[in-house]
Amino acid sequence: MTDGVTLIGLGPMGRAMVRAFLAAGVPTTVWNRTPARADELVAAGAARAATAADAVAANELVVLSLTDYQAMYDILGDVAGALAGRVVVNLSSDTPDVTRVAADRLGDRGAALVAGGVLASADMVGADGASVLYSGAREAFDAHEPTLAAIGRPEYLGADHGLAQLHYQAQLQVFLTTLAAYLQSFAMFAAAGIPAREFLVRAAPGEDVAALLPAAARAVDDGEYPGELANVLMMAATADHVVGANHGMGLDTALPDAIKSLYDRAIGRGHGRDGWASLAR
Ligand SMILES: NC(=O)c1ccc[n+]([C@@H]2O[C@H](COP(=O)([O-])OP(=O)(O)OC[C@H]3O[C@@H](n4cnc5c(N)ncnc54)[C@H](OP(=O)(O)O)[C@@H]3O)[C@@H](O)[C@H]2O)c1
Repeated sequence: MTDGVTLIGLGPMGRAMVRAFLAAGVPTTVWNRTPARADELVAAGAARAATAADAVAANELVVLSLTDYQAMYDILGDVAGALAGRVVVNLSSDTPDVTRVAADRLGDRGAALVAGGVLASADMVGADGASVLYSGAREAFDAHEPTLAAIGRPEYLGADHGLAQLHYQAQLQVFLTTLAAYLQSFAMFAAAGIPAREFLVRAAPGEDVAALLPAAARAVDDGEYPGELANVLMMAATADHVVGANHGMGLDTALPDAIKSLYDRAIGRGHGRDGWASLAR
């Protein structure tokens, strides 16, 4: 066992995290369901684990970057015996309730859960301005905070495992709703024959949204929706988590249901792997 990190889940976000850990000199072991996604990272210095069990065995600190917590169960179900003594830092999106249940289930296997949410796009990971929210096992977080700092400024919110996802989904609720509202406006401009980017001349979005909008407007104008950084399937999973977060607290879900239905329709029409801006289409 090294004093490095194991990273399981090599989508756009997980790959960005591995590059940030390697840049910080942290020995990094990787595993992914689709093995080829690890190739470029192994070439850059990461160690490839042959199995998920080998990956968990390699380091005390095991970071997960997956679509949701079910993916964690799908992967760790086979390695339950290897989890004792591990600190599982799950940076996958899901609802607060799901993270609380996961803390209990991992605890039964002798592992501590630190739940987290990444407040940055994949291309911002490791850069100034990227921050990551954490909650759950405090001692485990404190022990690994210096390593975790490589991917973004760590912010610990409290011992309740659901707290990080509560903050994260609340942020994403604004984020996803605002993006959809802008795309509706872009579509309005496109239908009127006006370049979508002209809408931005008078709009005053927040900085996080503002950073994504020029590329989205360009995608609408060009009719090309590359999905390598954040695709419709990933955003749809997130929209589902926003619905679940509201539902779990007994709140009205009309607005998040409406946002989710946009993503579901895009997936139904075969656009799941396109970039999220394809909703404008
Ligand atoms: N992309 C962003 O800009 C961004 C920003 C902030 C937060 N996030 C969050 O970061 C997390 C990861 O996002 P992402 O963009 O990297 O993409 P993603 O496409 O949602 O995550 C894909 C990863 O999950 C794995 N996976 C999914 N279901 C699985 C299952 N049942 N069994 C095993 N592995 C499974 C995939 O394996 P395969 O490669 O085998 O398919 C892949 O490694 C998500 O929770 C997302 O909400 C993403």
